[in-house]
Amino acid sequence: MAKEVKTIGVLTSGGDAPGMNAAIRAVVRAAIHEGLKVKGIMRGYAGLLQEEIVDMDTTSVSDIMHRGGTILYTARCTEFTTAEGQELGAEICRRNGIDGIVVIGGDGSFRGAGKLAALGINTIGVPGTIDLDIACTDYTIGFDTAVNTAMEAIDKVRDTSTSHERCSIIEVMGRNAGYIALWCGFANGAEDVLLPERYDGDEQSLINRIIENRKRGKRHNIIINAEGIGHSVSMARRIEAATGIETRATILGHMQRGGTPTCKDRVYASIMGAKAAMLLAQGKSNRVVAYRNGEYKDVDIQEALAMKKDIPEDQYEIFKMLVR
Ligand code: ADP
Ligand code: F6P
Repeated sequence: MAKEVKTIGVLTSGGDAPGMNAAIRAVVRAAIHEGLKVKGIMRGYAGLLQEEIVDMDTTSVSDIMHRGGTILYTARCTEFTTAEGQELGAEICRRNGIDGIVVIGGDGSFRGAGKLAALGINTIGVPGTIDLDIACTDYTIGFDTAVNTAMEAIDKVRDTSTSHERCSIIEVMGRNAGYIALWCGFANGAEDVLLPERYDGDEQSLINRIIENRKRGKRHNIIINAEGIGHSVSMARRIEAATGIETRATILGHMQRGGTPTCKDRVYASIMGAKAAMLLAQGKSNRVVAYRNGEYKDVDIQEALAMKKDIPEDQYEIFKMLVR
């Protein structure tokens, strides 16, 4: 049943993602347009439990569109995964007159959002993660910037790798998800991608492919390794020992999470943030804003969390087909 909301909070939670600021701006401005008051909750659920809450108006979000990171800061908060933490969070919302919240984050943050919704605080999730690993949506805020940052960095490593006729293992982010790795695999014309969803640990086959490539005249070998597989440095040592080809590991790390957001991230974040505020204004709760099959939609949080996402097999097969 729709519940009237007068004041909403907005928070960012989990790993930050470029474009989160555009989403915050959109939430604040759309909510004010809908006649709601807005409060910023600092440092995700951690800041909620510490009652780090500030009033926001349209000027609080001026001049942030082009900035990476999140002006509200972000955090991970173990206490909020407990029933006591969640009840305290809901109580703090009530005490501060907050009857609705927009949570910008990933699946973990949406689990927390679902708990707040069950405790009577109207809650809407906005997908913000560089990993693209939220099943209910084809798009997550930050992926486009992160994958472009990684692509540019890998191009640079490729130059030196070619000059030295080396093999390069380049580790990209993604603990459980190989989307950044696969996209860079395509975009950088890599010789191999190691995806958490697919890699079976068969290093000998990888080594055989490197030797084969060298025999076919390839002067370098770019292997994109996802963080979830990791061990890039020791892998490089073993590959060098087995092939006799100089091999180096480069771990791109957190640079992939920073930087000025791309146009795509700013636009999708703006629309998703505004939709979230509008859903709250309509009295909706327990929904995630999603972009699917070319349309913006909203999905029940529990249904969204129950969905599974996997690397499309046809895309992985095409990647392998093009490595010749
Ligand atoms: P992401 O949102 O990017 O997936 P995390 O998995 O780190 O990031 O989750 C962010 C935060 O969401 C956690 O630190 C925790 O405060 C909250 N959270 C995660 N799982 C749950 C849960 N099952 N119940 C309540 N809160 C949760
Ligand atoms: O969820 C985004 C992400 O960057 C993952 O790709 C990565 O595994 C994780 O966050 C790293 O988080 P931390 O900030 O704790 O290093």
